[in-house]
Amino acid sequence: MEKIIDEKKQGESLVLDPQKETEETVRNGRDSRKLYIESYGCQMNFSDSEIVASILANAGFNTTQQLEEADLVLINTCSIREKAEQTVRKRLEKFNAVKKINPGMKVGVLGCMAERLKSKFLEEEKIVDMVVGPDAYKDLPNLVQEIDEGRNAVNVILSKEETYGDVAPVRLNSNGITAFVSITRGCDNMCTFCVVPFTRGRERSRDPQSILEEVNELWEKGYKEVTLLGQNVDSYLWYGGGLKKDFETASDIQKATAVNFAGLLAMVAEAQPGLRIRFSTSNPQDMTLDAIEVMSRYKNICKYIHLPVQSGSNRILKAMNRLHTREEYFELIDNIRKIIPDCAISHDMITGFPTETEEDHQDTLSLMDYVKYDFGFMFAYSERPGTLAARKMEDDVPEEVKKRRLTEIINLQQQHGLYRTQQHLGKTEEVLVEGTSKKSDAHWMGRNTQNTVVVFPKEHYNIGDFVNVNITDCTAATLIGEAVGYSE
Ligand code: SAH
Ligand code: F3S
Repeated sequence: MEKIIDEKKQGESLVLDPQKETEETVRNGRDSRKLYIESYGCQMNFSDSEIVASILANAGFNTTQQLEEADLVLINTCSIREKAEQTVRKRLEKFNAVKKINPGMKVGVLGCMAERLKSKFLEEEKIVDMVVGPDAYKDLPNLVQEIDEGRNAVNVILSKEETYGDVAPVRLNSNGITAFVSITRGCDNMCTFCVVPFTRGRERSRDPQSILEEVNELWEKGYKEVTLLGQNVDSYLWYGGGLKKDFETASDIQKATAVNFAGLLAMVAEAQPGLRIRFSTSNPQDMTLDAIEVMSRYKNICKYIHLPVQSGSNRILKAMNRLHTREEYFELIDNIRKIIPDCAISHDMITGFPTETEEDHQDTLSLMDYVKYDFGFMFAYSERPGTLAARKMEDDVPEEVKKRRLTEIINLQQQHGLYRTQQHLGKTEEVLVEGTSKKSDAHWMGRNTQNTVVVFPKEHYNIGDFVNVNITDCTAATLIGEAVGYSE
C-alpha cells in the first residue's frame, strides 16, 4: 500500500454509494449525473480522487465504473516519469473513441499532468474539455458548469493555501480497515530530477485539529489503521497556517505553539491508542531523532520507515540536491536501529542519473549492502521537462546501461528482502487482517508492524482483527504462518 506507484492500482476507477437526491439535482429537476474517475501515480493522487468524488457528489454526481455510461470522465494523472504520462495519453485516446458513441460525455484531466501542461491539453488533445490542477479541485463544480455551457475550462493555478482540510473524503473502493490521511501538500525540496515541486507547489501543512478529527472519525467508522501522507512528512509544520518557508517571520506565540511532525505523530497516537499509525514518505535530510523517539514510545505507531535515498554516491546525491551525504544517511540508519532495533526500512532508488559512473553505481550497491532494506522501489532515471536536471544536465547514461544497473539493484534488493523476511521465522507477530489472500481463498492477508505481508489460514478470524501469527515460512516479500489467537 505504501508503494509510491502501486502498479496493481494504476488506472483503477472508483465507485461510491449512490447519492440520494441532492439539493442540486432537485433544483435542476433532473436525475443525478454519472462520474467515472480513474487514477494514476502516487497514493496522494488516489487520496485526492476521494476528495474530488466528495466535492462532485455534493454537486449531484454519482460514481460509475462503466466508462460508456458516464456524463463526466476524469483522469487523475501522474508526471513523475515519462512512462506515466504516456499511459495517460493512451487512455485519452480510448476516451476519445467512447466519446464518438456518447457525444454528451465530457472529459477532464486532473493532477500533475494538468498542472504541467495546462492549456496545452485543450489545444493539443482536442478531446479534453477541462483541465484542473491539484490545488483547484474545490472549483470543480463551477468548471463543470462552464463546460456544460459549451466552454472549455481550465483552472491550474497553484494556490498558497489549499489543503482540503475541510473536505471529508468519501472513501472509495476501501477495505474499511486501512485509510490514508493527507497531512501536507506540495514539496519545497527541489530534488533536481523531480517534477513534484512544479506540479504540486510549495509545501503547506494541514491544521492538526482537522487531521485529528478525520482520524477520530475513521476510528469511529471501524478503521483500524491510518497512514499519514505527504511528499515529505518530516517537514510537517503547523503554526496557524502559512507556508513552511515563511515560518521564520511568524510571531513568537506562533513559534511557541507550533506543531512539528514528531508532535503531530504523538497527538495522533494518543488520540486513538487502538488505531495503528503509519506515515509516508520520510526524507533523510528532514527526519529528526525526535520523530524516531516518538515512534519507539507508542506501541500503536508501526515500526516501519520508507526512507528514499535515490543514490549511494556522494557526488550524485549532491547533483540531485539531496541535502545529505552517504555518511549522514548511515548515521541516521544507525540511530533508527539503535532506538528501534526491529524497525523495517524501505527505499526508492534511481539508476542512471546524468553523469552516473560505474563507480557511483557500485556505491549504490554498497549502500544497499550496508542497510539491507526490507524492500524498495527502483527506477531508471527519466528526464522531466522543467526540472533543474533537465535544464542543466545531459541525460547521458545510455538506456541499456540504466536498465542493466536497474536489474542489478533489483536483484540485490531481492536477496536483502529474503534476508529480512527470514529474520521473522519462528516469531509470533501481531497482524492486522486486511482481506483475503490473492493466492488462496482459504487464507487471510494482513501486515505486521514492519509492513511485511503475512498470510495465514482463515479459521474463525475476520477482516479487521488483530491476530497473533506464528511465522513458519517465507518468500522474499511474504511471511507465511498460523494464527495462535487474538492479540491484546
Ligand atoms: N517525496 C515523494 C517522492 C515522490 S516521487 C514521496 O515519496 O512521497 C517517488 C519516487 O519516484 C522518488 O523517490 C524517486 O525515486 C522516483 N522519481 C522521481 N522523479 C524521477 C525521475 N525523474 N526519474 C526516475 N525516477 C524518479
Ligand atoms: Fe520530489 Fe524530492 Fe520532494 S523527490 S517530492 S522534490 S523530496
